[in-house]
Amino acid sequence: MAEGVSWKGRRVFLTGHTGFKGGWLALWLAQKGAVVRGYSLDPWTEPNLFTEARVGGVLEDMRGDIRDAAKLDAALSEFAPEVVFHLAAQPLVRLSYDDPVGTYETNVIGTARVLDAVRRTPSVRAVLNVTTDKCYENKEWLWGYREIDPLGGYDPYSSSKACSEIVTAAYRQSYFPAALQAEHRCALATARAGNVIGGGDWSEDRLIPDLVRGFLAGEPVNIRRPQAIRPWQHVLEPLHGYILLAEKLMSRDPEQAARFATAFNFGPSEDDAQPVGWIAERMTKMWGGNASWVLDADAGVHEAGYLKLDASRARTELAWHPRLDLETALHWLVDWYKAWQGGEKMHHFTLDQIAEYEKLSATR
Ligand SMILES: NC(=O)c1ccc[n+]([C@@H]2O[C@H](COP(=O)([O-])OP(=O)(O)OC[C@H]3O[C@@H](n4cnc5c(N)ncnc54)[C@H](O)[C@@H]3O)[C@@H](O)[C@H]2O)c1
Repeated sequence: MAEGVSWKGRRVFLTGHTGFKGGWLALWLAQKGAVVRGYSLDPWTEPNLFTEARVGGVLEDMRGDIRDAAKLDAALSEFAPEVVFHLAAQPLVRLSYDDPVGTYETNVIGTARVLDAVRRTPSVRAVLNVTTDKCYENKEWLWGYREIDPLGGYDPYSSSKACSEIVTAAYRQSYFPAALQAEHRCALATARAGNVIGGGDWSEDRLIPDLVRGFLAGEPVNIRRPQAIRPWQHVLEPLHGYILLAEKLMSRDPEQAARFATAFNFGPSEDDAQPVGWIAERMTKMWGGNASWVLDADAGVHEAGYLKLDASRARTELAWHPRLDLETALHWLVDWYKAWQGGEKMHHFTLDQIAEYEKLSATR
């Protein structure tokens, strides 16, 4: 963990707190002493992390749409936060093919609404917009993508996130330029991470939740494209990066804050890029019992090839690096779902995994 930055009493506005990553981030920030207001739609799966880990107990839980300008403006300005983490999004590639316009409305116009509300809220010092590794123009090559590489996106989801990046850059240049940092004192950054895994994700059409649903039902799980290689990382890895980056953005030194007000990649170690089939096989073994998977011959919609992030910048400038190898990350998530299945108190279980991760970060 970065030394010297305390989150105690810091006011944080978090969009997407009823979702998977937002739920983990809310628990972590609250555990650090932050005063969090969440602003999101209702959880859209049953079960969901928000309910199972009692995320609502650690923050002020507001329900609203980020496209609702009046409601969002009021929720943000009245709370007067110091930090804004923007995670609310339509995050699914396949759903984006069915509802492209809805995806652009939420991911692009929604981002503009959040940044516009920030413009009218002078208390805000740091804004972190969470996009994705998919925001890069995928050249289907072997090398890692750097923050300076061109943005793109084949499908509506990926391109909506590239647009979200461009919107953020435009707001930064137009309203919060580096040259005037000492006057406006607000730093905007974006964070790009890959496929995250961990306990409490029940999204449709994602590998881990699909496997867990099948295992729990005692049914073989249909797996598409088992050869497709993806960069996997535990959800706590990018969240750790987001926290470190936000700490830099909050710097009292305008030059320092402005220096970090750009884009950062948070990608897993090279060894943790593994085929879908490898993950399914490992998870099946770890789960035990009659867990199994079968090949789904329907390859579905276009899915981009392996896209590797170059996280040199986060490593060098934030001292961020992955703490959990893939095997350990899989163990942690299997433990989480098994504990949930066994009726354990998932609020405490989730906080325990966060504490365990913090211990690893302190010692490595
Ligand atoms: N999960 C991943 O592997 C992954 C990878 C890269 C990037 N991301 C990004 O991380 C962020 C969080 O993803 P997640 O996996 O937690 O998704 P999720 O589906 O679990 O959560 C999405 C959250 O956004 C909220 N939301 C959606 N539309 C909204 C709207 N119009 N108004 C207000 N709230 C709205 C939902 O209520 C929910 O709280 C997203 O921006 C996603 O694109 C996720």
